[in-house]
Amino acid sequence: MLKGKFPLNKFEAIPTPFYYYNMELLKKTLENVTMEACKKDFHIHYAVKANANPRILSTIAQFGLGADCVSGGEIQAALNAGFPNNKIVFAGVGKADWEINLGLDNHIFCFNVESAAELEVLNDLAEAKHVIADIALRINPEIDAHTHAKITTGMKENKFGINLSQLGDVIKLTENLHNVNLIGIHYHIGSQITDMAAFRNLVIRVNEIQDELEARGIIVANLNFGGGLGISYEHPNHLAIPAFDDYFSVFNKLLERRPGQKIHFEPGRSIVAQCGSLISKVLYVKEGETKKFCILDAGFTDLIRPAMYGAYHRIENISSDDIINIYDVVGPICESSDVFGTNIELNKTRRGDIVAIRSAGAYGEIMASQYNCRKLPQAYFSDTI
Ligand code: LLP
Repeated sequence: MLKGKFPLNKFEAIPTPFYYYNMELLKKTLENVTMEACKKDFHIHYAVKANANPRILSTIAQFGLGADCVSGGEIQAALNAGFPNNKIVFAGVGKADWEINLGLDNHIFCFNVESAAELEVLNDLAEAKHVIADIALRINPEIDAHTHAKITTGMKENKFGINLSQLGDVIKLTENLHNVNLIGIHYHIGSQITDMAAFRNLVIRVNEIQDELEARGIIVANLNFGGGLGISYEHPNHLAIPAFDDYFSVFNKLLERRPGQKIHFEPGRSIVAQCGSLISKVLYVKEGETKKFCILDAGFTDLIRPAMYGAYHRIENISSDDIINIYDVVGPICESSDVFGTNIELNKTRRGDIVAIRSAGAYGEIMASQYNCRKLPQAYFSDTI
């Protein structure tokens, strides 16, 4: 059923490993997310960190989305891809001076500020350029995202955002600084969140924070809820497009939106994950005493999520129709964590078979490294292959 989805004959001529992007699926996903956001008058800034491949970025820009950047490099990549400067937000707990200056020079929409110390530096740099920087304060709402500890961001012990107890002082500071202008509040509680209850809890907390701010005479023009919507790594075919309608409905129903207030989101994974697969060749099948190893030419240098987070990615042998066998699917890197999956059901696998590792469009190619002096994986696209 799946095999028809990949142009196997074309893959056989391309040096592996490489990333393959299904551009039709990316466009369908973008049509869906923009339609659902438009219904509720929500603004979307794609989180560039998930995948900054220039073709992927320019396709996303063509659908009218803004960009969420966390570095000067990402701001430049977003501008190069055609994202309008006035739809770029810049977040990050450690913005360097040159990165702030790049944002100021390009008059980006908003700096998402994460500390009082950063606020003062931003104010000084803006003053030196005789400009006023629009800012949102990133608040740590202390909401548990119930996701992997390494991708949880909204708890007290995380390095991100301003703690609720310090918010009053930071707002006072903002009022005393003349080259920053408070236009919003920013939240982001984590990534790969599949339980809508976490987002419901976030909105309930945001309503409380809005009430407290309003009691002090502060109503911000923008609320930004960050990213985090999860995808189905188990069923990349049946659930290829995430349920953006259900996700946005949580915010639409529960949020006590103030008149004229603009609502923003920063999805990354939910837009690009399912359109990408890592394509690899089987180098060897090694019969161990208790296990069969399927040794690929792709390793954690090409896709680090299984090694780094213990993440599950569906693996398919797209060359074989033979009976199912059980394998540990591993890479060639000299580290025991270079494992894509243990006890994986694959059609009987032989040297030279092509294997697809699915749902790799987000945090795949962009997190690749050259460890072991390996080459970075190249990208191929369904419409130009
Ligand atoms: N906004 C902010 C402030 C973020 O920190 C992130 C992700 C996003 C938006 C986008 O979140 P998404 O919609 O993609 O969940 N490398 C990890 C994920 C790290 C996410 C970091 N921040 C992984 O492979 O799972």
